Amino acid sequence: MRRLDQLLANLGYGSRRQARSWVEGGRVTVAGRVADDAGDKAEAADVRFDGEPLDHPEPLLLLVHKPVGLVCSHDEREGPNVYSLLPERWRLRNPPVTSIGRLDKDTSGLLLLTDITPLVHRLTSPRHKVPKVYRATLDRDLPPGLGERFASSTLLLEGEDAPCAPAAFTALGPREAELTLTEGRYHQVRRMFAATGATVLTLHRVRFGDLELGDLAPGQWRELLPNHFG
Ligand code: URA
Repeated sequence: MRRLDQLLANLGYGSRRQARSWVEGGRVTVAGRVADDAGDKAEAADVRFDGEPLDHPEPLLLLVHKPVGLVCSHDEREGPNVYSLLPERWRLRNPPVTSIGRLDKDTSGLLLLTDITPLVHRLTSPRHKVPKVYRATLDRDLPPGLGERFASSTLLLEGEDAPCAPAAFTALGPREAELTLTEGRYHQVRRMFAATGATVLTLHRVRFGDLELGDLAPGQWRELLPNHFG
């Protein structure tokens, strides 16, 4: 049960002050009766706003096909972001919808968004070791011995002293490869290839744990069950 003003504000309808005026204006009902106090507590499922059920009162967990060109930051100064793909009301929710880990602006592929804060912490924790699979194209033929180097636990990224955890590597073509990481360091795939002298031209995440994009087009998303990860 949550206070009506808090419920409406948390679901992105507006401020608590606005919610109070909507209650005063008779626009909110609880179990079929017009609410008269914004401080009354109710189950979201019993509440109607202008006669309509509330917009997705359950927690959100979304699988997005991130296109190139959008950032995962909420800071508008960093450019257009992935949250612009969502309905406006979802962008105003509290807790806010945020990405589980990040993909660079120039990286496409599978990205998870959620407002379940503990899930963000759990899945981005290095202890959790969720396998993430990336497909990269390079500016040159794959340097020899890449598989061994990436699997070796000795690869150091520039500016770091802890070597990368072993990563599985599969060559897909002369200049294309798939890499499976269980960590999520800043620009990790690009920096791992850079450590071997190659530059990543395109990068796409094809898998996160047991999840794949399927036939989702860039910019599209689909909902997952909030308990997908248990
Ligand atoms: N590694 C990168 O370099 N970029 C990403 O977006 C993800 C992993």
